[in-house]
Amino acid sequence: MKKVITYGTFDLFHIGHLNILKRAKELGDYLVVAVSSDSFNAIKGKKCAIPDYERMAIVEAIKYVDEVIPENSWDQKINDVKDHDIDIFVMGDDWTGKFDYLKEYCEVVYLPRTEGISTTKLKEDLKLK
Ligand code: CTP
Repeated sequence: MKKVITYGTFDLFHIGHLNILKRAKELGDYLVVAVSSDSFNAIKGKKCAIPDYERMAIVEAIKYVDEVIPENSWDQKINDVKDHDIDIFVMGDDWTGKFDYLKEYCEVVYLPRTEGISTTKLKEDLKLK
Protein backbone atom coordinates (compact mmCIF):
# COMPACT_ATOMS: atom_id res chain seq x y z
CA MET A 1 0.00 0.00 0.00
CA LYS A 2 1.35 3.40 -1.02
CA LYS A 3 0.91 6.07 1.67
CA VAL A 4 0.84 9.80 0.93
CA ILE A 5 1.05 12.76 3.33
CA THR A 6 0.32 16.44 2.85
CA TYR A 7 0.18 19.50 5.13
CA GLY A 8 -1.89 22.64 5.26
CA THR A 9 -4.01 25.07 7.22
CA PHE A 10 -7.19 24.51 5.19
CA ASP A 11 -8.91 27.63 6.56
CA LEU A 12 -12.16 28.56 4.73
CA PHE A 13 -11.94 25.27 2.79
CA HIS A 14 -11.97 26.01 -0.95
CA ILE A 15 -11.63 24.32 -4.37
CA GLY A 16 -7.80 24.65 -4.34
CA HIS A 17 -7.78 22.57 -1.15
CA LEU A 18 -10.14 19.98 -2.63
CA ASN A 19 -8.06 19.71 -5.81
CA ILE A 20 -4.77 19.15 -4.00
CA LEU A 21 -6.30 16.49 -1.73
CA LYS A 22 -7.79 14.70 -4.76
CA ARG A 23 -4.50 14.77 -6.66
CA ALA A 24 -2.51 13.75 -3.58
CA LYS A 25 -4.76 10.71 -3.09
CA GLU A 26 -4.39 9.76 -6.76
CA LEU A 27 -0.64 9.32 -6.16
CA GLY A 28 -1.25 6.45 -3.72
CA ASP A 29 -3.76 4.39 -1.76
CA TYR A 30 -3.92 6.08 1.65
CA LEU A 31 -3.82 9.82 2.35
CA VAL A 32 -2.74 11.34 5.66
CA VAL A 33 -3.38 15.08 6.04
CA ALA A 34 -1.64 17.14 8.71
CA VAL A 35 -3.75 20.20 9.58
CA SER A 36 -2.05 23.17 11.26
CA SER A 37 -3.17 23.61 14.85
CA ASP A 38 -4.16 27.04 16.14
CA SER A 39 -1.07 27.09 18.37
CA PHE A 40 1.19 26.37 15.36
CA ASN A 41 -0.54 29.13 13.40
CA ALA A 42 0.15 31.50 16.29
CA ILE A 43 3.87 30.64 15.97
CA LYS A 44 3.63 31.38 12.21
CA GLY A 45 1.80 34.66 12.89
CA LYS A 46 -1.27 33.32 11.06
CA LYS A 47 -4.83 33.77 12.32
CA CYS A 48 -7.57 31.46 11.10
CA ALA A 49 -11.28 32.21 10.71
CA ILE A 50 -12.13 28.59 11.59
CA PRO A 51 -10.76 26.84 14.73
CA ASP A 52 -8.44 23.85 14.29
CA TYR A 53 -10.88 21.18 15.50
CA GLU A 54 -13.44 22.33 12.89
CA ARG A 55 -10.80 22.53 10.10
CA MET A 56 -9.72 18.99 11.02
CA ALA A 57 -13.35 17.74 11.00
CA ILE A 58 -13.93 19.26 7.55
CA VAL A 59 -10.74 17.76 6.09
CA GLU A 60 -11.53 14.39 7.69
CA ALA A 61 -14.94 14.35 5.94
CA ILE A 62 -13.38 14.71 2.47
CA LYS A 63 -13.64 11.37 0.68
CA TYR A 64 -10.01 11.40 -0.48
CA VAL A 65 -8.73 11.69 3.10
CA ASP A 66 -8.06 8.58 5.17
CA GLU A 67 -6.49 10.12 8.28
CA VAL A 68 -6.02 13.56 9.82
CA ILE A 69 -3.27 14.46 12.26
CA PRO A 70 -2.40 17.82 13.84
CA GLU A 71 0.58 19.85 12.64
CA ASN A 72 2.09 21.45 15.71
CA SER A 73 5.62 22.38 14.59
CA TRP A 74 7.89 22.89 11.56
CA ASP A 75 10.13 19.99 12.50
CA GLN A 76 7.67 17.12 12.92
CA LYS A 77 7.72 16.06 9.26
CA ILE A 78 10.57 13.54 9.42
CA ASN A 79 8.91 11.80 12.38
CA ASP A 80 5.50 11.87 10.67
CA VAL A 81 6.96 10.26 7.54
CA LYS A 82 8.62 7.54 9.62
CA ASP A 83 5.72 6.96 12.06
CA HIS A 84 3.11 6.68 9.29
CA ASP A 85 5.31 4.71 6.81
CA ILE A 86 4.87 7.44 4.21
CA ASP A 87 6.00 6.81 0.60
CA ILE A 88 5.17 10.23 -0.90
CA PHE A 89 5.18 13.71 0.62
CA VAL A 90 3.02 16.19 -1.34
CA MET A 91 2.79 19.99 -1.21
CA GLY A 92 1.57 22.71 -3.55
CA ASP A 93 4.24 24.24 -5.77
CA ASP A 94 4.29 27.45 -3.70
CA TRP A 95 6.57 25.30 -1.48
CA THR A 96 8.86 24.00 -4.27
CA GLY A 97 12.29 23.07 -2.92
CA LYS A 98 11.43 23.83 0.72
CA PHE A 99 10.98 20.21 1.76
CA ASP A 100 13.63 18.54 -0.41
CA TYR A 101 15.39 17.43 2.79
CA LEU A 102 12.64 14.80 3.11
CA LYS A 103 13.92 13.06 -0.06
CA GLU A 104 16.17 11.06 2.26
CA TYR A 105 13.02 9.45 3.72
CA CYS A 106 10.39 9.39 0.93
CA GLU A 107 9.48 10.73 -2.51
CA VAL A 108 8.76 14.49 -2.49
CA VAL A 109 6.21 15.87 -4.99
CA TYR A 110 5.16 19.50 -5.50
CA LEU A 111 1.82 19.79 -7.32
CA PRO A 112 0.74 22.89 -9.26
CA ARG A 113 -1.61 25.14 -7.27
CA THR A 114 -5.14 25.81 -8.47
CA GLU A 115 -5.12 29.23 -10.11
CA GLY A 116 -7.06 32.20 -8.78
CA ILE A 117 -8.05 31.02 -5.30
CA SER A 118 -6.52 31.11 -1.82
CA THR A 119 -7.69 31.62 1.75
CA THR A 120 -5.93 34.99 1.72
CA LYS A 121 -7.86 36.03 -1.40
CA LEU A 122 -11.18 34.85 0.08
CA LYS A 123 -10.53 36.88 3.23
CA GLU A 124 -9.72 39.96 1.14
CA ASP A 125 -12.80 39.47 -1.06
CA LEU A 126 -15.02 39.14 2.04
CA LYS A 127 -13.67 42.43 3.43
CA LEU A 128 -14.99 44.17 0.29
CA LYS A 129 -18.55 42.95 0.90
N1 CTP B 1 -3.28 24.98 -2.44
C1 CTP B 1 -3.44 24.75 -3.82
N2 CTP B 1 -4.10 25.68 -4.60
C2 CTP B 1 -4.59 26.81 -4.05
C3 CTP B 1 -4.44 27.05 -2.67
C4 CTP B 1 -3.78 26.10 -1.88
O1 CTP B 1 -2.98 23.73 -4.34
N3 CTP B 1 -5.18 27.68 -4.84
C5 CTP B 1 -2.56 24.00 -1.64
C6 CTP B 1 -1.31 24.59 -0.99
O2 CTP B 1 -0.24 24.60 -1.92
C7 CTP B 1 -1.08 23.63 0.16
C8 CTP B 1 -2.52 23.21 0.56
O3 CTP B 1 -3.36 23.59 -0.55
O4 CTP B 1 -0.37 22.49 -0.28
C9 CTP B 1 -3.00 23.91 1.81
O5 CTP B 1 -2.81 25.30 1.59
P1 CTP B 1 -3.21 26.44 2.60
O6 CTP B 1 -2.00 27.25 2.92
O7 CTP B 1 -4.02 25.90 3.71
O8 CTP B 1 -4.21 27.29 1.66
P2 CTP B 1 -4.05 28.72 1.00
O9 CTP B 1 -5.32 29.01 0.29
O10 CTP B 1 -2.78 28.80 0.20
O11 CTP B 1 -3.96 29.65 2.30
P3 CTP B 1 -3.26 31.07 2.51
O12 CTP B 1 -3.82 32.03 1.51
O13 CTP B 1 -3.63 31.44 3.94
O14 CTP B 1 -1.77 30.83 2.35
